[in-house]
Amino acid sequence: MGFTMGLNLVLLIAMVATNILSLYHLSSTLQSHPTTTTPPPIPDHLLHQLSTIRATISHLTSLQPPTKKTPTTHTPTPSDLLLYTHISPIASSCKDNPLLLHQYMNYTPFALCPNDSPLSEDLILRGCHPLPRRRCFSRTPPTPPTSLPTDPFAPFPEKTTALLTHFTCKTFSCFSNLKPEMGFNMKVEKSRFLDYKSDLDLPIPQFLQLAKSAKSVIRLGLDIGGGTGTFAAQMKLQNVTILTTTMNLGAPYNEAVAVRGLIPLHAPLQQRLPVFDGVVDLVRCGHAVNRWIPITAMEFLFFDVDRVLRGGGYFLIDHFFSKRSDLEKVFTPLIGKLGYKKVKWAVGNKSDASGLKNGEVYLTALLQKPFSH
Ligand SMILES: *[C@@H]1O[C@H](CO)[C@@H](O)[C@H](O)[C@H]1NC(C)=O
Ligand SMILES: *[C@@H]1O[C@H](CO)[C@@H](O)[C@H](O)[C@H]1NC(C)=O
Repeated sequence: MGFTMGLNLVLLIAMVATNILSLYHLSSTLQSHPTTTTPPPIPDHLLHQLSTIRATISHLTSLQPPTKKTPTTHTPTPSDLLLYTHISPIASSCKDNPLLLHQYMNYTPFALCPNDSPLSEDLILRGCHPLPRRRCFSRTPPTPPTSLPTDPFAPFPEKTTALLTHFTCKTFSCFSNLKPEMGFNMKVEKSRFLDYKSDLDLPIPQFLQLAKSAKSVIRLGLDIGGGTGTFAAQMKLQNVTILTTTMNLGAPYNEAVAVRGLIPLHAPLQQRLPVFDGVVDLVRCGHAVNRWIPITAMEFLFFDVDRVLRGGGYFLIDHFFSKRSDLEKVFTPLIGKLGYKKVKWAVGNKSDASGLKNGEVYLTALLQKPFSH
């Protein structure tokens, strides 16, 4: 019981951490380029969350039991929750968060749903996934997309096709001006994954060439934690279909992927990948997958990647970062458990402020799944 709670907490923290961390990472990347115009300061609450997360992680890694569960106030169970539980079982982690769950299911059936998408993500990130269904009308933006997105790098529409009430920015172009690294600035995105700047890069043309010379067909793939879907966008130009898992923490990433004509999967990192065994040719993990994820959670993630890859398929670990010593002692053996062929294995110093401070390195690895174990 205590263990399950602890594990859920670890997973939650990891999920939040990866997202907060990417913001943190972006801000520190920006600071190292004095030529760029001064970015808006990181909001205090993010910095606060970051230090809370750090504290909690060090607390948890010392394997102490989590602090006493906060007493749950006994609010009456919403009637639609009772009804739903007769139809379909509720994931056990949902029941571990009764306050949030009740808040989520407390709505007027057959009317407009509450404006509560951050609440849904809160529950999902606590392991309450799939969320219970609701009998209400979801809120949608008044403007539909005006044309078919033939070019996944076309600028985002000015009239927003996303509900942005929960974000500080109210238009896509506001996000694109905020921080180019967030993935909303198409001028920046257009060249991503194409250039070779260091050995840590595996440009898409080079990857496709490697696959071609190994007589390996690349039709379908999965990009885990893929932000606004730029990897999928570049692959679409090569006639390869990529599904992008992405969450909406801090920005409308799911809507951005969709507006580009790509496929957003609203799935957290700890969820079993929503595709069948052996059906994809490529899985990519960007830097959402990094040393902040607890080792055991990462093992489950990597073996699920193995499950969905076909024999001869590729696992691309793109700019994974960890402490230098952990890469040798922890992560290289962990990746080794898969028994994949190392097509590429490049390690380089992470030279931004937090990388230097923590002695971190990047790993970019292209691994090929064997045909049989
Ligand atoms: C993608 O498919 C289209 C339509 O069949 C074709 O014209 C184009 O050359 C293909 N592009 C690549 C990079 O294979
Ligand atoms: C990477 O960092 C380590 C430790 O700070 C240093 O010894 C090494 O020379 C660096 N490597 C490169 C290529 O800068």
